Amino acid sequence: MTCILVVDDSRTQAEEARFILESSDYAVEIAGSGEEALASLRGGGVDLVVSDIVMPGLTGYELCRRAKTEPALREIPIVLFTSLNDPLEVIRALECGADGFIVKGAPPDQLVHRVRTALENQKLRAHDDAGSSVNVHFLGRAFVIQSERRQILELLVSTFEDTVRKQQQLVDSQQQLRDANRELEAFSYSVAHDLGAPIRAIDRWMTALVEDCALDATGKQHAARVLDAASRMRNIIEDLLRLSRVVKADLRRIDFDFSAVARLVAANLIMFHPDHAVDLVVEPGTRCHGDRALIQVVLENLLGNAWKFTRKQPHPRIEVGAIRRDGPVVFFVRDNGAGFAMVHAHKLFLPFERLHSDAEFTGTGIGLTTARRVIERHGGRIWAEAVPERGATFYFTVP
Ligand SMILES: Nc1ncnc2c1ncn2[C@@H]1O[C@H](COP(=O)(O)OP(=O)(O)OP(=O)(O)O)[C@@H](O)[C@H]1O
Ligand SMILES: [Mg+2]
Repeated sequence: MTCILVVDDSRTQAEEARFILESSDYAVEIAGSGEEALASLRGGGVDLVVSDIVMPGLTGYELCRRAKTEPALREIPIVLFTSLNDPLEVIRALECGADGFIVKGAPPDQLVHRVRTALENQKLRAHDDAGSSVNVHFLGRAFVIQSERRQILELLVSTFEDTVRKQQQLVDSQQQLRDANRELEAFSYSVAHDLGAPIRAIDRWMTALVEDCALDATGKQHAARVLDAASRMRNIIEDLLRLSRVVKADLRRIDFDFSAVARLVAANLIMFHPDHAVDLVVEPGTRCHGDRALIQVVLENLLGNAWKFTRKQPHPRIEVGAIRRDGPVVFFVRDNGAGFAMVHAHKLFLPFERLHSDAEFTGTGIGLTTARRVIERHGGRIWAEAVPERGATFYFTVP
């Protein structure tokens, strides 16, 4: 029976490896340190070593280096356990002549596969010419590689296999995340949608109650509160539905006149807020390559906010334009309104997060979340800079 020596200062990990390997019909011995492992190897009967790298006393690398200098031991393959988070691990393993890597926490079949491959390669190696050492530079340092060609290949291939597997796990979990997000979005859409009818009923019946029944003053006051709450609820639902539409809409990119869209959005705001005279400057001739309708949604939110948060400003001024330096064009909407403290900036684009109270400025806290989703769908970035009482500037890219 093939005998594997498992070297690990952690008894639990060693026993876990023993369990896996014994289940695949290998005989297993355990050594709790590098020194113990060397003694055991010299005693004979070991066909392959699986060793941890970081151990008190002799490390996995040193154990490997020493074993490879003793003629009686040099042919015994040594597979190192790694966490694979430092590229130097590969080169160090090559340097000490290790025969393979196994990533800690890899599925049991990987350990068995790696052990089997190392044993097979050892048989093949018996026919290879003895190679001389190779000097390589890696990360600014010189290393002397003792491993033979087949060993080097096996080690690199095993590392590559692990990377590919990790990459696949990443792709899988990204897909799971996308699916979960889509489910959540569909759920919030249907909740928001289904809340519409009962809210309309509350509104209708409350209005009927006020109109048809002889309520006293207190009754009318309570009814007004209910109607007010219902109206706020309707706004939230509308905002959530707008967000879902933005998330679901197909992205149709065209080259369009960004300045013209900004002027159109501003014209609506001017019409809806005749009592709020804003000094508006839109840089002319700015072009954008993106989904025109969705970028308009972004501008509606940013300009809507600029309008709202300059309401208490005696000389409100709002500027829309673009900065052209290296990299993608940075569009901006700047105002001289209420601003906010930058320590809270990380909350701006999260749903229902508001930096001002409802008493100061009304709102749901969904507008910037919607804007962020649009920009992210374009592969761009959105961020803000502000000073309390001095105004805010929102920047975004549409690469
Ligand atoms: N131009 C601005 N100046 C100052 N604060 C701003 C500005 N734009 C956004 N904010 C802050 O960010 C918060 C979130 O903005 P967001 O547009 O998401 O929500 P809202 O305007 O409160 O509600 P709505 O969902 O109706 O847009 C605001 O409540 C406000 O505190
Ligand atoms: Mg808003």
